[in-house]
Amino acid sequence: TDLSRIRNFSIVAHIDHGKSTLADRLIQSTSTVADRDMKAQLLDSMDIERERGITIKANTVRIDYTANDGNAYVLNLIDTPGHVDFAYEVSRSMRAVEGSLLVVDASQGVEAQTLANVYQAIDADHEIVPVLNKIDLPAAEPDRVKEQIEDVIGIDASDAVMISAKTGIGIPDVLEAIVTRLPAPTGDATAPLKAMLVDSWYDAYLGVVVLVRVIDGTLKKGERIRFMSNNTVHHVDRIGVFRPGMQPVDILGPGEIGFLTASIKEVRDTSVGDTITTEKKGTEAMLPGFAPSIPVVFCGLFPVDSAEFEDLRDAIDKLRLNDASFSSEMETSAALGFGFRCGFLGLLHLEVIRDRLEREYDIELITTAPSVIYNVYMTDGSMIELHNPADMPDAVQVDRIEEPRIKATILVPDEYLGDVLKLCQDRRGVQLDLTYAGSRAMVVYDLPLNEVVFDFYDRLKSVTKGYASFDYQMIGYQEDQLVKMQVLVNDEPVDALSMMVHRTRADARGRVLCEKLKELIPQHMFKIPIQAAIGGRIIARETISALRKDVTAKCYGGDATRKRKLLDKQKAGKKKMRQFGRVEIPQEAFINALKMD
Ligand code: GTP
Repeated sequence: TDLSRIRNFSIVAHIDHGKSTLADRLIQSTSTVADRDMKAQLLDSMDIERERGITIKANTVRIDYTANDGNAYVLNLIDTPGHVDFAYEVSRSMRAVEGSLLVVDASQGVEAQTLANVYQAIDADHEIVPVLNKIDLPAAEPDRVKEQIEDVIGIDASDAVMISAKTGIGIPDVLEAIVTRLPAPTGDATAPLKAMLVDSWYDAYLGVVVLVRVIDGTLKKGERIRFMSNNTVHHVDRIGVFRPGMQPVDILGPGEIGFLTASIKEVRDTSVGDTITTEKKGTEAMLPGFAPSIPVVFCGLFPVDSAEFEDLRDAIDKLRLNDASFSSEMETSAALGFGFRCGFLGLLHLEVIRDRLEREYDIELITTAPSVIYNVYMTDGSMIELHNPADMPDAVQVDRIEEPRIKATILVPDEYLGDVLKLCQDRRGVQLDLTYAGSRAMVVYDLPLNEVVFDFYDRLKSVTKGYASFDYQMIGYQEDQLVKMQVLVNDEPVDALSMMVHRTRADARGRVLCEKLKELIPQHMFKIPIQAAIGGRIIARETISALRKDVTAKCYGGDATRKRKLLDKQKAGKKKMRQFGRVEIPQEAFINALKMD
């Protein structure tokens, strides 16, 4: 294809501002898909994405469009993941295209993810076309939102395209804007092959499918190619484009986006952002800034029913086929038995994987407290990366501990600002910036990641009635006063409840945790002490009183069926319990105990 007739673009937006709906309209209005094959949110393929309305994997589609100038254009849309946990994937897919449509809900205005994503687009040197969506809504305020885009983001919004992705208003204008306002790609067809590995996923029939953007040279079927990051060589079996179904082609030239398959067995053998070239006479120059995604949040996943351990292993293996960014390694816990220590890109990523294991594979799980990676410097000068608080070395051998910190950007309506500042302050935050755009405040905080991994999103949502938006990026490690807090139930340490806490917060955290466990653990026939401890020092204590023996007898005295029902119920409930010494702890206790309020 003639380079001047190609436009590559992505759509950046905050969640729910209408990115998927717009993509659907673009596909539909150009008859890329026959009407009868059109289903809502065509680009969101996984069920869970559909349910939660979150786009997780980058997806792509090639659209043929004859513009008002009479010429036929090829428009390649790469759909980027909308969530902060996938920031690295967003930044790579941004580098595969030249422009972005910035979609803003005209009834809502700019949100935290609008900002985070548009900054990525600006970083990638994109030409940006602002698009105001949902102008069909009575609450739409396009003028105010235009002003906000100019004030907050600093780009000209005077000729923003006004649309309703829902009703179809303005869709032809979007297509024209793509052709006339976004630049064509540049590239040299005669240079050695240089292509970017934008994404990859596992397909049961084809093996690993690799999404590529050709920069220079041509990618040909039957050729031998090299992945430059790990220097592996593969034979290209298939090349094609997405319309949005897979359609084979023989070559992909500069500026083009498509896929290849090359008998690659695992997604792990491919790295997003990698440079692909030919085995012989390839390019010397790798694409800049290659950095693999690394997990930052860890937790233990254990089957509630220990007989399901093998099922869990299989399920994790299957999920890992398609998600190389999540790590897993076997873990044994004195309390929980066999399970896996898993690493995730962030909290949402953790939730998505846990959900899929429970729903698609039907495995009930106990999730231990999420933890970040601490750098533990030992007195002998060595350094340990601590992924699991249970592995914390003895305090006397530890010189100092560093924890990861993030830069968080929060956009919030004025009236909730006070609550948000308090929340951030309570989580050991340091305010970096506070600005206003209309009736909204933008607050920037430096926060410890470990204070965010518990339930920061939930708290933020509840104190702002859902009106705040939030985004973050890692900024590095900093030393702080961190200690390991243990929980003892009936004098037995429960390693799954161990956590790293800041020294000044330990007493309060320990107290709350013990109080909650007292509520969450049912009474037994004996007294159960619950204690929180740092080293050998007990910092909080609660006691669950013993159950009086005659309780069932009294309530259910003569009625045999009711008594049996009660026993059946207890039996069903047992499945969700775990035995710790003589004490049974329900699985919700683990999750709920760790929430702070
Ligand atoms: P994520 O995939 O979660 O990032 O969301 P998204 O940005 O793709 O938003 P999506 O397209 O799923 O739209 C969110 C909601 O807004 C859906 O309920 C849409 O039906 C609705 N919506 C999208 N465009 C319009 C519009 O122009 N007008 C109105 N009234 N509703 C719209």
